[in-house]
Amino acid sequence: MNFELKQLSLASLHQQKTEILLVLIDDNHLASSHEPQSAIEQAVSRALQKAHLEPKAGKTLTLWNVPGVKANPVILAHCGLGTAKQVRQAVTAAAKEAKTAIPECKHLSLYLPSIAQERVPSAMQALSESLYVYTTTKPSAKSASLATAVLCVEPLFKGSLDQTALQEAFDEGKARVLGMNFTKEWSNRPSNHATPTHLGQAAKTLTSYKKIDVQVLGPKEVAKLGMGSFMSVAQGSNEPLRFIVMHYKGAADKSPPVVLIGKGITFDTGGISLKPGAGMDEMKFDMCGAATVLGVFKSLGELSPKINVIGLIPACENMPDGKSIKPGDVVTSMSGQTIEILNTDAEGRLILCDALTYARRFKPSLVLDMATLTGACIIALGHLRSGLFTPNDELAQALLAAGERTLDPCWRLPLDEEYAEGLKSNFADTANIGDRSAGSITAAKFLERFTQGLNWAHLDIAGTAWKSSGPGKGATARPLPMVLSFLIDQAKQSKPTLPAPKAHASQGSKKAPQSLSSKKLGKTTAKR
Ligand code: BES
Ligand code: MN
Ligand code: ZN
Repeated sequence: MNFELKQLSLASLHQQKTEILLVLIDDNHLASSHEPQSAIEQAVSRALQKAHLEPKAGKTLTLWNVPGVKANPVILAHCGLGTAKQVRQAVTAAAKEAKTAIPECKHLSLYLPSIAQERVPSAMQALSESLYVYTTTKPSAKSASLATAVLCVEPLFKGSLDQTALQEAFDEGKARVLGMNFTKEWSNRPSNHATPTHLGQAAKTLTSYKKIDVQVLGPKEVAKLGMGSFMSVAQGSNEPLRFIVMHYKGAADKSPPVVLIGKGITFDTGGISLKPGAGMDEMKFDMCGAATVLGVFKSLGELSPKINVIGLIPACENMPDGKSIKPGDVVTSMSGQTIEILNTDAEGRLILCDALTYARRFKPSLVLDMATLTGACIIALGHLRSGLFTPNDELAQALLAAGERTLDPCWRLPLDEEYAEGLKSNFADTANIGDRSAGSITAAKFLERFTQGLNWAHLDIAGTAWKSSGPGKGATARPLPMVLSFLIDQAKQSKPTLPAPKAHASQGSKKAPQSLSSKKLGKTTAKR
């Protein structure tokens, strides 16, 4: 879908040449508007006065054949006080009506009143999401995809947003939806259309952006790096693993990058610790973290913010096979720490830990990993908020705030050292699972063992990366909105680097695990 921005007042909206016109109306409409003159203004006043349009966010009214108006139909949608959530509600409801009105509509326009001008990215996202159709393995669905959406905003007046801010919001919205659609595309593809090799190719397509470079490592290079933990997951599959390294250069070379890591299990059967059959198809989504990193890079390519970002994607399948890793096997991670794999279904952390170790070479300002890591996170937080883990309070606040402002919220969970108790092993430096309790936290505690000295945050997106049912069944592209917004915010700050992680009384771990001695770290860095 192609977005255009236009400044057009409600009074002249009747002239807009478009198939369907969506008009957002807010609580202040009647109070603030002058005597209605134009066709749309009159239609809106009538609808409100006769209560055909209920004054409640998300309520809609479809009007056909409005005299003097080029578009047909006109769909009115109430957005209450114009909060981001209400704008999303209104746009979503209006888009649903639009799809019913003209299923094969190719050109529609969305009018935003002054009050909603600061919600431009939210409105664009809601529209794009409501009209999204996945077509790669269902080409027959193509006819339902929209070609152009024109965003008509009330012309700016003194005291409202300035032109630059409006343009910036529009550019951010556009970059966001393009990135999200890229994320959705790769998340939704079934595993035979989204192998590790395919993901590597998808990343390579992003090198069409001037500031993006991509290297895709295969099994030999990964073996050379000593990623024994990552390799052990991949060894049961006929699909060769890929380790994707992406560079976005938006700032001076000396500016330390943010490293984003995405879990790229293109299918998770559980391995020898096989998952039950029911619903296993959904494990094609176990690479949503990876797809989010790909999407964020697409957004960065579009938007060109002044920041350096590295994207790391360990990608492989988790399969049962004669060559598979077995429960009780011990592997050596890139950090040197040995891991007893008590459950082969806890594979996400096994590929992420080596990516975390690899991240060190970039001397990053911070490392953020995204992973559909634990079913336990769905039990804890459901499908509304992603799980956020970090020992750094300041980083937590910045990520939480980005989640709130983009309606892509997360919730912080604790990292007390006691939660790592269950990871103790008599046969290796660490086990890959604890007991059943607090499963998301033990998973995070496992990852934390590979982050000493890094400024690190982890997002468990098991409950938020896709929807299992309903009209929006499929990938959500979360947490792209929050991560992109966070990065844009970092780029705008004069000092984009957050301070080094502080030791926390209850959250941080002060003591490095024995096997991750400074000597070992030095060795790892020396491999550059
Ligand atoms: N990919 C799954 C987590 C998952 C499950 C995400 C269901 C979304 C929906 C992950 O690899 C996994 O299997 N985790 C196990 C960990 C357990 C063995 C400690 C889980 O959550 O059951
Ligand atoms: Mn698993
Ligand atoms: Zn998994």
